[in-house]
Amino acid sequence: MPHDVPQTLPAGLPDPATLARLAGDFFAALPGGGVSAGSPVGHLNDAASATSSASFASALPVAAPVLSTASNPAPAGSPLAGPGGFGTGVPGAALPQGKVAGANLLPSAPTHVLSLGNRAPALVPHAAAQNGLPDSVVTIAPALEPRFGGAALGVPEGHGAQRPSAGGASSAASGAASSAPAAASPYYFLDERGDTRRSAGPGSQDIVVPPSDSVTAQSFGLPGEADLRSLLSVQRFPYDVGLRDAGVERSAGSRYVLDEARRPGDPAGGPHGVPNAAASAHPPFDVNAIRRDFPILSERVNGRQLVWFDNAATTHKPQAVIDRLAYFYAHENSNIHRAAHALAGRATDAYEAARSKVQRFIGAASPDEIIFVRGTTEAINLIAKSWGVQNVGEGDEIIVSNLEHHANIVPWQQLAAQTGAKLRVIPVDDSGQVLLDEYRKLLNDRTKIVSVTQVSNALGTVVPVKEIVEMAHRAGAKALVDGAQSVSHMRVDVQAIDADFFVFSGHKVFGPTGIGVVYGKRAILDDMPPWQGGGNMIADVTFERTVFQPPPNRFEAGTGNIADAVGLGAAIDYVNRVGIENIARYEHDLLAYAASVLQPVPGVRLIGTAKDKASVLSFVLKGYETEEVGQALNEEGIAVRSGHHCAQPILRRFGVEATVRPSLAFYNTCDEVDALVSVVRRLSARR
Ligand code: ALA
Repeated sequence: MPHDVPQTLPAGLPDPATLARLAGDFFAALPGGGVSAGSPVGHLNDAASATSSASFASALPVAAPVLSTASNPAPAGSPLAGPGGFGTGVPGAALPQGKVAGANLLPSAPTHVLSLGNRAPALVPHAAAQNGLPDSVVTIAPALEPRFGGAALGVPEGHGAQRPSAGGASSAASGAASSAPAAASPYYFLDERGDTRRSAGPGSQDIVVPPSDSVTAQSFGLPGEADLRSLLSVQRFPYDVGLRDAGVERSAGSRYVLDEARRPGDPAGGPHGVPNAAASAHPPFDVNAIRRDFPILSERVNGRQLVWFDNAATTHKPQAVIDRLAYFYAHENSNIHRAAHALAGRATDAYEAARSKVQRFIGAASPDEIIFVRGTTEAINLIAKSWGVQNVGEGDEIIVSNLEHHANIVPWQQLAAQTGAKLRVIPVDDSGQVLLDEYRKLLNDRTKIVSVTQVSNALGTVVPVKEIVEMAHRAGAKALVDGAQSVSHMRVDVQAIDADFFVFSGHKVFGPTGIGVVYGKRAILDDMPPWQGGGNMIADVTFERTVFQPPPNRFEAGTGNIADAVGLGAAIDYVNRVGIENIARYEHDLLAYAASVLQPVPGVRLIGTAKDKASVLSFVLKGYETEEVGQALNEEGIAVRSGHHCAQPILRRFGVEATVRPSLAFYNTCDEVDALVSVVRRLSARR
């Protein structure tokens, strides 16, 4: 009977009741036996009390006897918690499903206890570095809320961007967020859908960031280090009220589930406990609070705290995204669009809600303009192989820039080889910025498409894509903008840019790998043939002919990456909650600081010094191969990419085959930059 669940436990493993009792005893035996001054959770209470943030106050009912009655071995955020366990896996929920802290006493099913047994070894440091320090230091202080959990688990803090809010805005933001769940529909899927475009005015989803009149570091105009440091430690802008997104998404109803009643026990504010990254507020932009949302930042590498400067390759995932994925598989998993059963409805709603989130995130006119693919590479291939084959012929011209990633070169080369078209390249100046005058000369009536990156992955150059698109249109060409390196760093509005196509990858914007997006203007998508055939993309099939679905389904043959699309939606919620404008400003200052301290190190040559840059600080160090620098940094737990970054043409333009490439995100700090620069200084002093 291969499908039978084993009825006996493995030899030597205590039964579930014993394990539960042991776990309860264990937590009761923690310092203070629960909450008291000096216990980890006691500290959390102190922290919560110390803040004036309404969101903190509402997120953690400090008066509650947080652990005094708790014997739950797997509270939210605990490394012991299973993905389906109550009390965890609810990103953004202040406390588990509306329960009083500690009220979720025991695992709800024996499986959780078993999972506790299975996970026990993870509590032991699992590796030792050469210096004797463990590679993984895990404390077992329970965390009642993922952000606090991060604190308990030791996510390192850093000097970077304590940005306390101007009180009023902060309270308003927090209030909006904390009141949002109460207004939420009892239908979990209605909270996630939202088909309307942003509209201005009270109650709209517009993100409003009051202008700041304080001094801003000028990238590469470079004020002194002290100025930049102090700038980064002073709040310049209030917490983004983008968290109005919390709970305000509405739709007239589910297209897929007509009558799913609220489940017994669902709290009013969080129907079905569906993870909703937008449902709780951060305090004012505070890099240390943000860092605690990213569990991986507490990892240790070579005995050192991980410093992640490889964000251009991929970004880390906040707990909200991790939990959303777990929730999908625990509660919603089904194929979509097909069956008439409840889970198919949930999965479809979650997937389509993610499409709508992407639509709003990039300012598209309709969710039907959003096609899910694996990532940016697949996105560009789709366009080249569908639109390209249909519209580009012999003698036609395709324009890319010298900055492009191989993913925005090779598909066009393949198309050119197939059709007899020609690939032409916009050159860059010595700073790494595209030369618009040279571009103008390349345009002519044979130009069919211009495909350029918005931010260079190798140099960090921010390319003036709006002008490039406009010039392409004047020549009668279409324009594709590669947003792989831009969407996590700046506000993107595809309608303002007027791009015909815009593409990006989920994993570079704090979402999962294996999910990406093609945006295309509806009229263009309507005319494009499918590029893959199969299920999901058809309206009717006979052996004689097939009728295709309209976009976007026409371009989503087969079972797509449903869960990761949903995870991308959660990542977008998260970014909205922090506020992309806040992220852009913080990173701008951090990059300016990093350039100001790295550039003067003897032997350092920055590759890419354009006035407008985002995230990336490519360099070479005299006397060293880039791999040697990368290895020296790795020994200190600092992750950078060294190599050609899949952008060989632009590196060769600067006479190098490889660079060391730190790339920043909004969870990085000045302290981390200092750690990197001190390694580079040490290397520099040796040769
Ligand atoms: N395109 C990614 C990078 O630049 C992989 O590292």
